[in-house]
Amino acid sequence: MSKKFLQTLDGQSFASPAIWMMRQAGRYLPEYRALRATEPSFLEFCYCPQKAAEVTLQPIRRFDFDAAILFSDILVVPDALGQKVSFESGEGPRLDPIANAQDLARLTEIDMNKLGPVLETIERVKGELPAETAFLGFCGAPWTVASYMIAGKGTKDQEPARLFAYQHRDLFEKLIGQLVRASVTYLVAQLKAGVDGVQIFDSWSGTLPPAEFERWCLRPLREIVDGVRAQMPEARIIAFPRGAGGSHLIEVAKIPGVQAVGLDTAVDPVWAARELQGIKPVQGNLDPLALVAGGAALEEAVGRIMGALGGKPYVFNLGHGIVPQTPIAHVEQLLKLVRKAG
Ligand code: CP3
Repeated sequence: MSKKFLQTLDGQSFASPAIWMMRQAGRYLPEYRALRATEPSFLEFCYCPQKAAEVTLQPIRRFDFDAAILFSDILVVPDALGQKVSFESGEGPRLDPIANAQDLARLTEIDMNKLGPVLETIERVKGELPAETAFLGFCGAPWTVASYMIAGKGTKDQEPARLFAYQHRDLFEKLIGQLVRASVTYLVAQLKAGVDGVQIFDSWSGTLPPAEFERWCLRPLREIVDGVRAQMPEARIIAFPRGAGGSHLIEVAKIPGVQAVGLDTAVDPVWAARELQGIKPVQGNLDPLALVAGGAALEEAVGRIMGALGGKPYVFNLGHGIVPQTPIAHVEQLLKLVRKAG
């Protein structure tokens, strides 16, 4: 059976678009919270193939999305480079921050043994997904992952990493290079294990001025795409440069090996239809809070996106991850709105 999501990436358009949601496996689902409660450590949860596969499948069973996304986290990569990573409940990630050359020298090349359970998760999910459901792997983009590695946690606008990149250019260049190599190895392994495509999350690309965006976001993205495609020429890659804005989004869309560009909440879909959809399919970009609100506000927001992007290839998604307080009934309302167009 053909997969609408993959056909969209290949350039087909549908009256009722393919739909999935960033962070679709997560805390807004009671069945996720129940399984999550069986394992205190979030990283151990990510490294348990049986549990990670189960939560990957939960939103597919409940909502029949057109794509499943591997349940894991972008911060398994620093873990596999030898940096200490943990997640404090309610506080987010904590890493031993990288402050100088010695800290950087302690990192190793990516230890794929550590990520074996993630590949096993992929194999398990693959065996259970409906034939029409596409399967996405992912990694964080080097800038976004590095910003957590430098600060040791999430911060306002990733200021520690932005400053570090100005003050220690050579060291930062080295770190980004290491993350490019790690990302290529990791994404190729995911594709070989059975995902149909991968998404590269650059959640913090919107914090950089143009020259820094070119250096720390665009160039590494091109290198990853080229590196993956050198080994897997047919690889499908979605780039999500959150906050990148106008001209930067166009640059990303023009990268030959990128199949689709993810749009964050702030991107005007009318602009995207005019400036991006002629270059590549796009994916997005409902405000996660319109989904919390539901009702007429949700209907209006969905209508604007579908009105603008309809007629050319696009995948319906949120502009960022679904938030834990989202009512399930509103996800059901969203699916009705998107699917009634068909
Ligand atoms: O359903 C899916 O989308 C797949 C799983 C997934 C998770 N994280 C699970 C998760 C994916 C694709 C991610 C990506 C991710 N992780 C990003 C990029 C996307 C984005 O949201 O911008 C980033 C920046 C991270 C790092 C991260 N992981 C943070 C900052 C946090 C804490 C904040 C939060 O949302 O809780 C996490 C934890 C995390 N990753 C949770 C989940 C379901 C919540 C932890 C829990 O359930 O206990």
